[in-house]
Amino acid sequence: MKKLLAAGIAVVALACGAAPAGADALKPVQLPAPRTDGGKPLMQALKLRATSRAFAPDPLPPQTVADLLWAAWGINRPGEGKRTAPSARNWQEIDLLLVDAGGAWRYDAAANSLAPLVSGDLRHLTGGQDFVKDAPLTLVFVADPARMKGSEAASREAYAYADAAFISQNVYLYCASEGLATGVRAMVDRPALAKALGLGADRIVVFAQSVGYPRR
Ligand SMILES: Cc1cc2nc3c(=O)[nH]c(=O)nc-3n(C[C@H](O)[C@H](O)[C@H](O)COP(=O)(O)O)c2cc1C
Repeated sequence: MKKLLAAGIAVVALACGAAPAGADALKPVQLPAPRTDGGKPLMQALKLRATSRAFAPDPLPPQTVADLLWAAWGINRPGEGKRTAPSARNWQEIDLLLVDAGGAWRYDAAANSLAPLVSGDLRHLTGGQDFVKDAPLTLVFVADPARMKGSEAASREAYAYADAAFISQNVYLYCASEGLATGVRAMVDRPALAKALGLGADRIVVFAQSVGYPRR
């Protein structure tokens, strides 16, 4: 068990830091079990919540990535499969994609793993501002309208933005609690990013949100 965990962590370290040579280099990543206790009291985290636009380049450790993703959009009631953020009619239509120097992955909350999407550094496509390429990790919030059963086409985008915003605030509060820098942005070239990520034409790219250590 110990050996398995060590192997898993080594793979996450690769996924979150180095740039693999090609698509074959991306393998599914089993994340360490999230630590679901500790952190700052809520009122202190709220006092510290802020948008940052200056990141140190250092990659985040696998445990931090696992904790961040769980806080953002993990399953907190396994019996019901429900999550740390609400979603309209429990559609759970938001996919959280992780973009780092090595490639892009989709967070699978049930498996606590990262499923590979594409290799290569796409961080520069996650926003129009210069700092976006410095942050070691950017989360991209993508909605799948096919999961929004019974919704009217005209309201789907509004629901997707609302549901993504709850997840974004979870990321803000986790980062405030852990002394990490984060910033959400809507200023994204969505068609370019969707194309690079290989997303289907129906998917809605909502926000991007970078996470890292504050630049000193
Ligand atoms: C929907 C939304 C979109 C945003 N888009 C961007 C963006 O594209 N670039 C950016 O630098 N900040 C962006 N921000 C961050 C805001 O500028 C920031 O929240 C605001 O200035 C208040 O600062 P604070 O978060 O530190 O309180 C966005 C925030 C929200 C809620």
